[in-house]
Amino acid sequence: MSDEKHPFLHDLSKHRGSPSTVIVIFGASGDLTARKLIPALFNLSLDSLLPNDFYLFGFGRKTMSKEEFSELTVTSILEHSRRPLNQEVWARIQQNIFFETGDYDDLQAFKALHNKIQTIENNLGRNIQILFYVSTPPSVFKPILENLGKSGLASKHRGSPLASKIIVEKPFGRDLSSAKELNRIISKEFTEDQIYRIDHYLGKETVQDLLVLRFANSIFEPIWNLKYVEYVEITVAEDMGVAGRAGYYDQSGALRDMIQNHMMQLLSLVAMEPPISTKSEDIRDEKVKLLKAIQPLNLKLQGGDVVRGQYTEGLIHGDKVVGFREEKGINPHSWTETYVALCLNINNWRWNGVPFYMRSGKRMARRVSEIAVHFRPAPGSLFKESNKFDLAQNTLVIQIQPDEGTTLLLNSKVPGLETIIQPVKMHFRYATTFGSNTPEAYERLILDAIIGDSTLFIRGDETEVSWNLYSPILESWQSAKDHGIETYTAGSWGPVAADLLLAERKHAWRKPGF
Ligand code: NDP
Ligand code: BG6
Repeated sequence: MSDEKHPFLHDLSKHRGSPSTVIVIFGASGDLTARKLIPALFNLSLDSLLPNDFYLFGFGRKTMSKEEFSELTVTSILEHSRRPLNQEVWARIQQNIFFETGDYDDLQAFKALHNKIQTIENNLGRNIQILFYVSTPPSVFKPILENLGKSGLASKHRGSPLASKIIVEKPFGRDLSSAKELNRIISKEFTEDQIYRIDHYLGKETVQDLLVLRFANSIFEPIWNLKYVEYVEITVAEDMGVAGRAGYYDQSGALRDMIQNHMMQLLSLVAMEPPISTKSEDIRDEKVKLLKAIQPLNLKLQGGDVVRGQYTEGLIHGDKVVGFREEKGINPHSWTETYVALCLNINNWRWNGVPFYMRSGKRMARRVSEIAVHFRPAPGSLFKESNKFDLAQNTLVIQIQPDEGTTLLLNSKVPGLETIIQPVKMHFRYATTFGSNTPEAYERLILDAIIGDSTLFIRGDETEVSWNLYSPILESWQSAKDHGIETYTAGSWGPVAADLLLAERKHAWRKPGF
């Protein structure tokens, strides 16, 4: 089924006929479940996009009754849903909400879960698809996968259209060897078409629109190459800190949390060759080809391609915030990075020599994610004499979030008798054109997994190619002086060294969002 439908022109009628499904969330008491997964399920139910027979099992170590978990889902909708709670709609789902308490390495708990799902099937009088959602810290992915295998849950209905599926959250592994090991374990229990390695950035409207922008418009492709593009910037800046996820974040850091996955997806979609079709395998093939063309990075601390940073205390929107090492739950001597900037070179015919700068950090000046494609300056000096200013470089800015849209920076003549040229902006804003209440990424992705469309998920080899690039960076930091950490003040745009990274190449970061 996955290869037949057009991923960007979603045919919702197919979802309306989706198979009866049980979703089992491992880590159901956690942050992601509360903030994203439950609200996504609620919004899908509001649009009648969940299967008619739909069941939800929370699984976790916490002792929780069915009623308590059900109550938790209501709180999560009230606090995090993009649309208000509709009690009537959610009450229908609540009838089928359950919770299974158990350790992730406790086989008996998995067997008990299996029995309960079997009882549901017996009562329905037919088989049902099971979708496992692994929403725990990566440290417990392995026991979960092993117990899904041993309990027979993974192999349930194998070989039939109702074969079990699994969604695995990022980060997929901690480095190349652990990603390989995870791929090995997961593929012992599930075939590749049953595995959905999620990267929620691929479910964002603006990220999907990147392919539409590039390949449904004829004006960009001829100039989307080294002849016309001077450099590209990809920024994912967050103003929040570790936000109650200290345990996870201090073990992870910005490179594992954002760069290896979300940022690489953005880069792939901006830079890959046109796929021969929108079938999932064709798009994934192009992404892998692109990742393989990225050159190994220069890991020198001074004058290299990578900058690692950690925030110190500062002001966010005027309010004082503590430094990373003073955050609750963070080791006061932590060397974990909260910021990474790097310069990549893609060695292929389209891009060789065009720097792709990427940066992502916590506690930066504001929350903004954007891709800026800077075109080479107009040749010649036609306006040099008359113009009072340097001509601005044409830049195409794709704003991923917030205030989603696209802006093109052009030069224009200021009305008047003199020839004065000034940069102006052509704006397209989603909210103005389409209204603002667009579905969240997780709605789209959960729905796709239910119907078996893997286009917007990551293939196993893609994770390994990406780690192949980043594992050496992690290793180099371990032996570097001060672990290669530069500091930056919370509320700034990152360490000074990140400005130098571009300055050495005669470029400068854009002030995002402007
Ligand atoms: P949490 O830290 O909230 O953990 C989720 C649940 O996992 C906890 O409620 C707990 O459940 C269980 N758990 C936590 N630590 C351990 C441990 N050391 N051993 C065993 N079980 C543990 O994580 P999140 O919900 O934030 O993230 C879950 C996954 O989703 C991660 O892989 C993360 O990278 C990914 N993700 C998170 C996002 C977010 O915004 N939160 C966004 C995108 C991806 P219990 O005690 O009940 O067993
Ligand atoms: C998650 C990271 O994957 O993405 C978080 O674990 C980060 O640290 C989040 O805050 C950002 O997602 P979004 O959709 O808010 O840009």
